[in-house]
Amino acid sequence: MSFALGIETTCDETSAAVVADGRRVLSNVVRTQAALHQKYGGVVPEIAARAHIELIDEIISLALGDAGITGSALNVIGVAHTPGLVGCLLVGVSAAKGLAFAWDKPLVGVNHVAAHLYAAALYEKITPAGDAWTAGDTWPALGLVISGGHTTLYRMASPRDLIKIGHTIDDAVGEAFDKVAAILQLGYPGGPQIDALAKQGNPEAIKFPMTLLGKESLDFSFSGLKTAVLYNVCGIGGKQREASALSPQERADVAASFQRTATDILIAKCRRALGQGGYRSLVAGGGVCANSAIRSGLLQLGREHSIAVLLPALQFCQDNGAMIAGMADELYRSGVRSDLGLRVVATS
Ligand code: KG4
Ligand code: ZN
Repeated sequence: MSFALGIETTCDETSAAVVADGRRVLSNVVRTQAALHQKYGGVVPEIAARAHIELIDEIISLALGDAGITGSALNVIGVAHTPGLVGCLLVGVSAAKGLAFAWDKPLVGVNHVAAHLYAAALYEKITPAGDAWTAGDTWPALGLVISGGHTTLYRMASPRDLIKIGHTIDDAVGEAFDKVAAILQLGYPGGPQIDALAKQGNPEAIKFPMTLLGKESLDFSFSGLKTAVLYNVCGIGGKQREASALSPQERADVAASFQRTATDILIAKCRRALGQGGYRSLVAGGGVCANSAIRSGLLQLGREHSIAVLLPALQFCQDNGAMIAGMADELYRSGVRSDLGLRVVATS
């Protein structure tokens, strides 16, 4: 059995995890900083980096303890070194380097976005039905990463070989969820709140614009949708009234109609990409992949195209160390090694 430790500090979650054989999660300790950033309505990089420093040692100890192993049992130490907030990345990478040196273990730098897709391979107790991940017919896959920082489509020849085929030209879809939640005065992070409120609303109540860009384009745009919600709720210009002027039902209708439009945009782009042919499955990941409407839309699209849809379990959608550990194990097995000079890269 091989044991990988994964360390994740790219943004506002401090996390460490131990994964066995690249897929079975033995521990996954995630400490979110959401409460620290709530009053600012978004992540403050300096506050995030300081919080990572305070937490990282304890989180790693907890992850090893929960898994019932010590550092000496590890086969590899993986760390997210790109993309992310530089000050935050430095905390995780420094910790990983220190431990790799102290315990004399191999170090592997992991791309956080690729790891979001790898999250679909992870399981805790129950082996995924049919285990499409290892079946020969999974690749090439269409990969969709939807998070607070990314909305990107990839052609995946394997979990390690990603070619970007589309991305957002403005806001990430998670950002749009967070901003719409702020407009509706629901608090931060807003995605889960919109998801919950949308269940009480009518998704057909308001027709928001669906920006699809060029006919063939696989890129995304969400800023027009966000502005349309702002003008709908607060009046043209966005300053005439506040969300509190709406009835609870009207607010739920806005949430449901926005979520429906965002889902339709994501599905339309995936359908377009699948239509270009050659994909044997659809793999998705990222915090927004926890969204109930988006999950069911993706599963429905898979049925339409008779392909498997691999989605991470809910606990592996948001930023977590398990996806970093799993991806590190995958890379390590294929011969990838980083040295103690591993650098952080803000954008990749
Ligand atoms: O992957 P993640 O934890 O961090 C990044 O790498 O950005 O994603 C965070 C994003 C936030 O924008 C949050 O509002 C969104 O994921 N999110 C959701 C849901 N749960 C989290 N968005 C929509 N529906 C959800 N249920
Ligand atoms: Zn992420």
